[in-house]
Formats: sequence, structure tokens, C-alpha cells
Amino acid sequence: MIHVSFPKQGLTVELLSGEALIEAARRAGLALETPCDGAGTCGKCRVKVSPTSALAPCAASDDILSDSERSQGWVLACQAQALGDLIIELEESANDGMQILRDGHEADATLDPWFRKRFDGASTEVLAGAVTAAIEPGDTTRALFGLSVDIGTTTLVTALIDLRTGKELESASSLNPQARRAQDVLSRIKLGSQSEGLELLRGEVIAEINRQISEVCSAAHVSNTDIWEIVFSGNTTMLHLAAGVNPVSLGKYPYAPALNGGTHLHAADLGLAIAREGLVYLPPIMSAYVGADITSGILATRLHEQPGVILFVDIGTNCEMVLAVNGALTATSTAAGPAFEGMNISCGMRANRGAIERVSLDDGDIRVKTIADAEPVGLCGSGLLDAVGELAHRGGLDANGRFRSSDAAWPWRSRWDALDGKPIFRLAGPVY
Ligand code: FES
Repeated sequence: MIHVSFPKQGLTVELLSGEALIEAARRAGLALETPCDGAGTCGKCRVKVSPTSALAPCAASDDILSDSERSQGWVLACQAQALGDLIIELEESANDGMQILRDGHEADATLDPWFRKRFDGASTEVLAGAVTAAIEPGDTTRALFGLSVDIGTTTLVTALIDLRTGKELESASSLNPQARRAQDVLSRIKLGSQSEGLELLRGEVIAEINRQISEVCSAAHVSNTDIWEIVFSGNTTMLHLAAGVNPVSLGKYPYAPALNGGTHLHAADLGLAIAREGLVYLPPIMSAYVGADITSGILATRLHEQPGVILFVDIGTNCEMVLAVNGALTATSTAAGPAFEGMNISCGMRANRGAIERVSLDDGDIRVKTIADAEPVGLCGSGLLDAVGELAHRGGLDANGRFRSSDAAWPWRSRWDALDGKPIFRLAGPVY
């Protein structure tokens, strides 16, 4: 048995000879991002091993990591196999300080909840549509709550709603735990297409939603058993995974969803901790890549009722667009995660603590702003756009987007450098 220790975390676990280092991190309960699901292509699972570590030769680590990174001990945890005891150092937690938007406009809408309560003087009848869902002793008409849960590919936001008034009482947000195993939609479909992977992804997202339910309930002093309905918003893949439905058909022609939405499911069947007879509503799904989140967005903005030409854009890991022309709607989507979340960009990362989000080039100097004002550790999507925009604006790029590093009079010339034979432009600290 091989012993793997994580000194910063004070943890030691055991591995079998030949097992990948990622297994050690999982066994130790440590969060390690695996966006490509261990295919050895994204480079985001890298860990640093002590110089004396015995590892099997690893071609994928050689391809993805630079010579200098490998000489410092960095390897891909999903690919490197342990042959003897080793010590591992993780990069600073990627999830620290993550910014998740959870506020927005409240639209005026007529309240028409599926669940209602009726008190007859002795007990309260809970109605789901026209059907009696439960009888509660005494008058419980004041305790009638619902949840909206936005299951994003990367983030998860839950809002607790008073179904008598339509008011939002509390909200909670966190990272979708599935993102650590498979970051983009296609990797998620691949993992969820096998029964073990589906159960893993379903279990993780339901557990996190249950954690958010207890967070909003305790903040609002509401019992979770008084929550009767949940509306799941999210892209088509996220809804399949949360409902425990195999998403395999979403990954191959003709890309037909197995779920079409517009239906209720039993919350208890999905393992959700609300009223025993509570229901989960899945809004209509338009296609494999235009999901219930877009239906929800169209409804919330009344896009189909607006005159003129309007473009509705949902920029997430997956980006959907709906063009409205006097109420006639046309929708499409594409993967945006690689551009905004650092996939295949050497210093790229999500908008987490230490990510450079603003860059400005002034008087031969460079100013960067990082998330949480932490030491710079990478570059998120907005920082990348800023950096390229500033370089173009200040004459650091030619018309084809190539570095103009041979211009000896350029005020920022000291920032040009080379790494493994490729030109780089240094921004701040280790970030280029
Ligand atoms: Fe290891 Fe992507 S390279 S998870």
C-alpha cells in the first residue's frame, strides 16, 4: 500500500500501486477540479509532488505542462500514477471567493401557484391543482412555500418564495458540485451516460440543493416540510442529471432530449427534503441545447409579447440566444465556457479569488485588478478580454492578433518574454 500525504491539509490516505493521484485527493475529500473528466486534456487538475516521489512515466503530463512546470514537480493528478509513497501539494482552492450572481429584477406577475391551502375550521387541506395532496391538523394556511432552483452548469442558486405573496424570502448560492468532476456540458453528458456516473452526478447535485434548502429555511425560520413545490430551471443536461434521467441522447444525433419538461415529478423520488407529497416542476425544454432556463427567461421577460427586435442572451458555461422579432422567437446555443472559464488557456481560470478581471496599460505601466484583491493567480474571461483589448489598443498586437514584440520603442516592451520557445506578455506575478 502506498501512502500519500497532503501536508497543508494534514491528511494522509492510501493508494494502490498504479492508481492515479486524483484518487488520493478524492479519498482525502479534497476538491480538485477535473473539467475534462480525467481525459488529460484540460490541465486543470495539476498538483505538485515532492522531488522524491515515485511516479510512472506520464505522456499526458509531458504534453500539457511546460518544461519549467514539470521541473518544479507539477503533474496532472488524473494521469500520474503512484508507484511509491509521495507528498502532494494542491494549488490554492479554486473555489475561494467565487462570485455568483443571485440578485435580479422581480417581475410583476399574477400569482397562480399549483399548490393552495384551504382551512375548514379543524384542518387544512393542501391542494395540488384540484387534487388533495395532504390534510394537516389545525390552520396551516400561512405556511405555504416554494423554491426556484437554477441549476447552472457551474453554479447553483436557490430562492425561497412565499407562495401566498410571491415574495422571495431568502436565497443561497454555491458551486454546482458536478463541475469538479466534469466542467462543461459535453463532459457531463459523457460521465452521466454511464449508470455509476449518473448516480454520482445526480446524488451530488441533490445533496447540494438539500444543503441550500436547509440554509434558506434556517435563515427565513421556515420548516422545509412547508415547502410544497420546487421549480427547476437549468439547461437540458442539468435537468436530466438532477432528475436522474440518462442524458446519452443529448450527446449524439439527432440530439433528442429524453425529458421534455412541462411536467411534475415527486420531490421524494428525487431525494429532495421538502414536504413528503411535494412536487418538482420542470419547465418546458425546447431542445437538447436550449433548455428550461431559457423558457424561464422568455417568460420572465415576456419576450414573446414585446414589439420590435430584441436579442435575449444567456451567457453561461453554455450560451443561449433567442432572437425575438415582434414576438416570433428563434433560439440557438453554443459552448461559452472555454472562452470564459479558462479552458485551454495557460493562465486561464474561472472568476475566483485571485483571478485578474481588469487590466489597464498606462504610461508604460500595467495595472491589474483581481477578484477579492488577492495575489494574482490567473486570468478569468473578463480579464482576458481586457488584456487583449488593451494590447490591441496600445499597439502590442498586429492586425492578425500576433504579438508585436520586436518594437523596441514600445513602452511596455520589458513585459515581453518567452516560455518554452513561445512569446508571452507578462501581466502580474506568475500570470502572463
Ligand atoms: Fe486532469 Fe483534465 S487534465 S482532469
